[in-house]
Amino acid sequence: MILRISDLEVHYGHRRRRRAVLSGVSLSVSPGEIVGIVGETGSGKSTLARAVLGLVRASAGRIVVDGEDVTGYRARQWRSLRRRGVLQYVFQDPLRSLDPDLTVRDSLVEPLLVSGVPRAEAAERARKYLSRVRLEEELLDRLPGRLSGGQRQRVAVARALVTEPRLVILDEPVSALDSANRVQILEIVKELRASGVAFVFISHDLGSVAGIADRIAVLYQGELVETGPARAVITSPEHPYTRLLVSSAPTLRTASAGRAERDALRALLDS
Ligand SMILES: Nc1ncnc2c1ncn2[C@@H]1O[C@H](COP(=O)(O)OP(=O)(O)O)[C@@H](O)[C@H]1O
Ligand SMILES: [Mg+2]
Repeated sequence: MILRISDLEVHYGHRRRRRAVLSGVSLSVSPGEIVGIVGETGSGKSTLARAVLGLVRASAGRIVVDGEDVTGYRARQWRSLRRRGVLQYVFQDPLRSLDPDLTVRDSLVEPLLVSGVPRAEAAERARKYLSRVRLEEELLDRLPGRLSGGQRQRVAVARALVTEPRLVILDEPVSALDSANRVQILEIVKELRASGVAFVFISHDLGSVAGIADRIAVLYQGELVETGPARAVITSPEHPYTRLLVSSAPTLRTASAGRAERDALRALLDS
């Protein structure tokens, strides 16, 4: 397993304002696997991503990345793990994954230099991953502010990949993109899976995860209510919330019932 999360709990706030945002979350990811995490806004998806990346603290449970128990890691240990490049991420807004003051070249080269790769080799790898995400070399000297949204997100993907990580966390990577860019990013992710990289692919839209994930985990109000092979989750969802997601996804709707059932499911969940 490249990632093993067990009984994860995360709280926000403190004292009387303290509330659980994630509880009892268990999930494993194998090398070369794409695990989709779906759930509505506020269900805790980004919190889960942030916990795995060491950006929020787990109040209970365990997170093991590539055999290393990172649960109690302090800032210094996280920096060391990041420097080794085992784990990378892409956020919805590429401006949050990219430094606006670094050219594309420097964004790609910097994580390699930090991990001790010689400059010439780093430059070579930067070019390699730029072409992997189907961008032209002439973009190497641009700042992120001078790229289109789709180009920027592809640079963010290249930057995540350049250290040749074993696991990449993608938090709504295509939600802000038009459909052409969306399709391209999904294709790039599929190609990389073939080379053994594992992905956690987060989306509020079951439709965009359905075509790419090997397994799907459904997050509802901070708990994983259903996890299974993508096909099984989509064709025979067990939890009412998953059924609601399937019947609400435009591209999947044919596989399920219409509006009357959606209303009934919503009423059941709200009760
Ligand atoms: N830094 C924070 N402090 C307090 N509450 C937060 C913080 N970040 C997120 N939340 C709350 O935690 C819940 C889950 O948020 P989030 O993980 O961002 O969900 P999602 O990514 O699924 O939309 C939401 O109710 C949100 O308001
Ligand atoms: Mg989010």
